[in-house]
Amino acid sequence: MTAVLLDVDTGIDDALAILTAALHDSIELVGCTIVWGNTDVAQGARNTTEVLRLVGHGDVPVAIGAAGPRDGSPARFSPEVHGDDGLGGFADRSVEPVLGGESAVELILRLSHERAGELELVAVGPLTNVAAALDADPSLPERVRHVTIMGGAALAPGNVSDAAEANIWHDPEAAQVVLDASWDLTMVGLDVTMTSLITDAHRERLAAGGAAGRFSAAILDHYLGYYEGWTGTRASGNHDALALAVAAGLVRTTLSPIVDVTVDCSHGPARGRTVAELEGEWGTWPDREGARHRVVMEVEPGFEDAMVELIASAR
Ligand code: BDR
Ligand code: CA
Repeated sequence: MTAVLLDVDTGIDDALAILTAALHDSIELVGCTIVWGNTDVAQGARNTTEVLRLVGHGDVPVAIGAAGPRDGSPARFSPEVHGDDGLGGFADRSVEPVLGGESAVELILRLSHERAGELELVAVGPLTNVAAALDADPSLPERVRHVTIMGGAALAPGNVSDAAEANIWHDPEAAQVVLDASWDLTMVGLDVTMTSLITDAHRERLAAGGAAGRFSAAILDHYLGYYEGWTGTRASGNHDALALAVAAGLVRTTLSPIVDVTVDCSHGPARGRTVAELEGEWGTWPDREGARHRVVMEVEPGFEDAMVELIASAR
């Protein structure tokens, strides 16, 4: 069993990651912390709670975190990608999350003590909460087993600008803080998440499944529509669930050099770009002495099919 703490900005692909974490029998989902990003934190908390309750995991602690970026600039959400409610128009806005009185930072720190040495921190939104937890307690890396982020792009083009992937672009300064911390970190970025695709064939299987499957099929319609407008093909990156899968060992990575990654925090066109020190021809990149960032460039195929089956067959 892998003890996973998910830091989410619950939009559509975050929802699939939450369902996977809740349903997979090799994952113990110990908490969800909510960060701004795809939507505002209040809606993110409602969405997270709705998804957890759908599969009987309403007892997982949920805690609200940062409402906007680290530098205090205004939050910019992604309604065009995830819908106004973050769930493609299918969110139940009447859901009332049960919050335990802890902030996201407090929950991250508490779980890091309670599950010291075994906690997998999987962050699939802007890294504002994780950076704030490091501010609050710089010894956090000593107690976390590993950090996996969905974010960035080493060689692939960005998805909000030519240079930048959304989670990093939303808060580059926070991302740099998280990359600078003294833990081992795995970056699951667009290089690999844009090769892990959800299609209408997956939606059909989900639609024929139980309540979680039907819900997933419904919310994915908006997401596939967005991708069709962007790429010309109704196939969406399975971003957040793939990061979870890498963290929990549900998928094997086949190419993932350990190098240093930095973030462009300038205010020009490259803002939010992740710069990974990959040297040499494609796929021949050596690990760098002393580096701590594992950059996933390829995984074995088939995870999306397994994920869809898991969610569709949930009762
Ligand atoms: C990332 O950005 C968000 O829109 C998704 O939820 C995912 O975490 C992909 O770039
Ligand atoms: Ca996300």
